Amino acid sequence: MKSLQPKMQETHKPYSFLKRLKLYAKFLVEAKSWRSIHSPFMFEFAKYVKTSKVDAKKFDHIEQKRRKLFKDQRVITFKDYGASGIDRTRKVSEIAKKSAKAKPQCETLAKILTYLKPNVAIELGTSLGISYAYMVRASPNSTLTTIEGAKEIAEIASSNLSDLGFFGNIRVGKFDEQLPLLLKELDSIDFAFVDGNHQQTSTLDYFNQIVSRLSTNGCIVFDDIYWSQGMTNAWNQIKADNRVSLSLDCFHFGIVFIREGVDKQHFTVAL
Ligand SMILES: C[S@@+](CC[C@H](N)C(=O)[O-])C[C@H]1O[C@@H](n2cnc3c(N)ncnc32)[C@H](O)[C@@H]1O
Repeated sequence: MKSLQPKMQETHKPYSFLKRLKLYAKFLVEAKSWRSIHSPFMFEFAKYVKTSKVDAKKFDHIEQKRRKLFKDQRVITFKDYGASGIDRTRKVSEIAKKSAKAKPQCETLAKILTYLKPNVAIELGTSLGISYAYMVRASPNSTLTTIEGAKEIAEIASSNLSDLGFFGNIRVGKFDEQLPLLLKELDSIDFAFVDGNHQQTSTLDYFNQIVSRLSTNGCIVFDDIYWSQGMTNAWNQIKADNRVSLSLDCFHFGIVFIREGVDKQHFTVAL
């Protein structure tokens, strides 16, 4: 199996707020309108994600749950596998504020799922189940499995999802252990959302594992590609990979598609 290795020295240190602001300004200068996209598939995809309206009522109960979690004073101790498995003690409210994708990104994710309607989808990084709930609501016929390393967090996610009326198909364990097992069970994957363990080597490893099992026309969305130099390095290597046909940088997410018979192209578009 072909594998991507980090070409630059790995750095886990998150960018400062100022650095992210500068990167965002640079992104806005470079970003083109979806109207300028020549690839017919990417044009339709970007047009849909940029211009379609989310039916807020459809996701309102999830936002109500998020607001409840913001006030949840329960304190839990868990292993943080995004930081070498160290023990952390946090209020649930802090986890909800820090880890769950914000509403606009959840809505983007929901639109992507609504458009692609994947049969089989996976998520790396459940946290409290907010993005999972959005994805299930947007694409109820998809078989969606999510992986979470911290047992205590996964338990709360499971109860949140059940409160929302969804079955949470959550696998508890480290990505390194659970992802290969899950991939063995699934014939192929149509969609993957990678939202945990923002390290260069790990991100490239997840990409390598998933891309080799991605269906024709499959899609992978990487969160936080401008979180650290390591994540940006990983994203640059992923979009340059020959197995990727189309890639789209929308700042919050890096999105790649595998499509047969399509010339390799990259797009920077604010969605
Ligand atoms: C950013 S949060 C996910 C947020 C969630 N997708 C949402 O938007 O609601 C990342 C989660 O991944 C988990 N995680 C990080 N590294 C992991 C690893 N190596 N193995 C398993 N879980 C991991 C963390 O415990 C954390 O809950």
